[in-house]
Amino acid sequence: MFGNVVAVMAGLALLAVKGFESVPQSNELDMIPEGKPPAFVTPGQTYRIATGSTVVLPCRITQPGSYVLAWKRGIAVLTAGPVKVTPDPRVRLLPSPAVGASVSGSGVPGIPELSGGGYSLELKDVKPQDAGDYVCQIGTMEPREITHTLEILVPPRIHYVSHTGPLEVAQGATVKMECRASGNPVPVVSWTRKNNVLPSGERSVNGLSLVIQHADRHSAGQYQCSADNGVGQPDTKHITLKVLYPPEVETERSYVHTGVGLEAQLVCLVHAEPGPQVLWFKDTAQLGTTEQHATQARGNRYTLVIRNVTMADFGNYSCVASNMHGKSRGNLELTGTASTALFDSPSLGPDKDQYNISWSVNSHASVIEYKLYYRQQPRHHHSHYQDDIRANNTRIGFRNDWNNVIIPGYGVTSTYLGSVPAPYPGVTRQRMSYIIRNLQPATTYEARVQAKNEHGWNKMSPAFHFTTRSNDMENMVEPSAQPAVYGISQQGMAGYGTSGTSRITYSAVLMLLILLI
Ligand SMILES: *[C@@H]1O[C@H](CO)[C@@H](O)[C@H](O)[C@H]1NC(C)=O
Ligand SMILES: *[C@@H]1O[C@H](CO)[C@@H](O)[C@H](O)[C@H]1NC(C)=O
Ligand SMILES: *[C@@H]1O[C@H](CO)[C@@H](O)[C@H](O)[C@H]1NC(C)=O
Repeated sequence: MFGNVVAVMAGLALLAVKGFESVPQSNELDMIPEGKPPAFVTPGQTYRIATGSTVVLPCRITQPGSYVLAWKRGIAVLTAGPVKVTPDPRVRLLPSPAVGASVSGSGVPGIPELSGGGYSLELKDVKPQDAGDYVCQIGTMEPREITHTLEILVPPRIHYVSHTGPLEVAQGATVKMECRASGNPVPVVSWTRKNNVLPSGERSVNGLSLVIQHADRHSAGQYQCSADNGVGQPDTKHITLKVLYPPEVETERSYVHTGVGLEAQLVCLVHAEPGPQVLWFKDTAQLGTTEQHATQARGNRYTLVIRNVTMADFGNYSCVASNMHGKSRGNLELTGTASTALFDSPSLGPDKDQYNISWSVNSHASVIEYKLYYRQQPRHHHSHYQDDIRANNTRIGFRNDWNNVIIPGYGVTSTYLGSVPAPYPGVTRQRMSYIIRNLQPATTYEARVQAKNEHGWNKMSPAFHFTTRSNDMENMVEPSAQPAVYGISQQGMAGYGTSGTSRITYSAVLMLLILLI
């Protein structure tokens, strides 16, 4: 009995030094069990375990008898029989439950039964360096073993970011941001921008670096690189990109229509990095904050408030925005004249020889008179287009085929007046209509209008097109009686004479309309 114990102990000691293969034969001979040699119940397997977690590598055998079961890693013996050999405190042996009922004692007192059915190896708090092969071996004559492979999954970690503080670049520069990450499996690094898409328009791109060509103010923002490999949480780092550029100024409205006694607001929208200084001028005189003037800045919106507008306040204003990268100006005109007229009568009239044309302007002061111009739509588009250019540039540049009518405005008794809402303090929409007589049937005309109030004439309206109706269907198909092609356009000049196909479409639609009605 005692001899056996010594032999086992000696064997263990030897194992610890030389490994399991060198188990002395005497041990084997001394401890020969009855029956078949043991076999493994658990096959060798690969385990993928995240760092920090605990893994149990199973090793269950049949017919345990008195064979010594050892766990090895490479040439290092971790355990031998019930004894833990490695000093690593994270390693623990767990007896496996017996397989079946055929458990027989070793008959050696003082030594725990070799196993119920083997020993599993528990490894706590696994680390990347624990990766590798773990062998469970039974000391039979021909050693038998199974091999478990441990792969350690490491959550992603970004260990390098190209820019830690805010990244400032000049407008037009090429920006390269970089993030490098480790982990197992190798993490995928992706880029996004907080509350925005990337400058390329994509929501996210993969890659260790993000390159932005020609950075401009739209490229600025908080970028983030994120590393993900499916283990644990993705790791994320931020890079704040500032693009430095001179001010860019837009005016909300370049003509501000107002009236005496009103409050007027002139608005410039300014983008600049770093933030701009914005000054206001009337002509060349800088405006300070006075009882009459106040300046406001909200975000990129800079406002000059003119309280209680007087005649002297009308004129040209500018906002001048500057920062260390440059200066820019927005021009605005404060005017008491009416806004440009908008037509609202239908483009196809109900009559064949007359047409009720109507429009409105916004004006604080009552409109004194309107000047209405109209003529048959010319058929030669090119020369007509040039004519329109001239008409835009000067009020009296019309060819003599224009008819013009002067129509008294609101407050002046007129048989042509429609119902106009009573003027109220503030800028008012003032409507007007006029019946143009002696027109040709099924013919397209164009019209423009200008309004005059106590502050003068407003800007000439763009051309408006209307078409008279035909009573006679046969007339319609005669080429000379075909409606001209601009009748649909309400706003006149926009897109004028640019597209032949759209013109054809318009006239086709118009024909159809006329035929249907
Ligand atoms: C606007 O100015 C006029 C003349 O200076 C003054 O009579 C009027 O009370 C002012 N109105 C307001 C609202 O300040
Ligand atoms: C404002 O400036 C424009 C040219 O930019 C000029 O035609 C116009 O007469 C000016 N208006 C006043 C009231 O000075
Ligand atoms: C002309 O049109 C205007 C606006 O639609 C309307 O108020 C007015 O009564 C019309 N005039 C006639 C004579 O039908």
